[in-house]
Amino acid sequence: MQTINHLHSLREAVEALRNNGSIALVPTMGALHEGHMTLVREAAKRAPHVVVSIFVNPAQFGPNEDFDAYPRQLADDARMLEDEGVSLLWAPSAQQVYPAGFASSIHVAGVSEGLCGAARPGHFDGVATVVAKLFNQVQPDFALFGEKDWQQLAVIRRMARDLDFTRPHPDAIVGVPTVREADGLALSSRNRYLSPDQRRQAAALPARMRETVARIEAGADVRRTLENLKAGLVADGFDAVDYAELADAASLEPLARLERNPARLLVAARIGGTRLIDNLPAGG
Ligand code: PAF
Repeated sequence: MQTINHLHSLREAVEALRNNGSIALVPTMGALHEGHMTLVREAAKRAPHVVVSIFVNPAQFGPNEDFDAYPRQLADDARMLEDEGVSLLWAPSAQQVYPAGFASSIHVAGVSEGLCGAARPGHFDGVATVVAKLFNQVQPDFALFGEKDWQQLAVIRRMARDLDFTRPHPDAIVGVPTVREADGLALSSRNRYLSPDQRRQAAALPARMRETVARIEAGADVRRTLENLKAGLVADGFDAVDYAELADAASLEPLARLERNPARLLVAARIGGTRLIDNLPAGG
């Protein structure tokens, strides 16, 4: 596996790979876990060359968020990727991604504005901007993202359609189902912030969400069921629920009833200082 830190070397390496077959990109912020490795394995099913990027993107962290504390373990990550047969690790510095004078930002209206976007102003502008840059830098045939960050996936798909991306084509942006622990908790780099007690309590999130989807699918009133979900999570030890919404799976417009379009239950809840997000399909 080649590890590359400079854009001019990346361009040469990507061109050499492309002469030998297609490329699938897995963008990450590092601190790799089994969820990321599942993305890498899915990428390898689609293309002979897998490129993984690791960049802790300052533009997607708010002023009071965990940018400084975000786990960084490049050497361990590189070993895991090498063992998995990844062709190229793109690990640029902030200077490479945002050189002096950098002044552009992509805002994807609508789909980026509710849910996590409401609580984290500017977050999805930072995500869309860096992902657009990664797409232009690597020019992948496929790009893979975890469905755990469902809103992020919806924002990236909207951006790729709106801006006529061809590498990757919007249809080649692949969402990979969430990888979960045995008790149902979605894997996340932030789970390591949980104390053992908080970790135990956190399993209530997927459990209550599954229960909520079953009730809504059985015809229960959506608003009342979501209120019960929030109260249940607080009773189970969560400090606060930022949101619990049933939404159209693509536009993320809130739904008051389970309609024909694929729908998604999306929740963000805080336990200790840690904010956990999760989502599940509903109906369809
Ligand atoms: O999901 C992530 O790890 C990040 O948001 C991404 C897509 C790599 C952009 O920085």
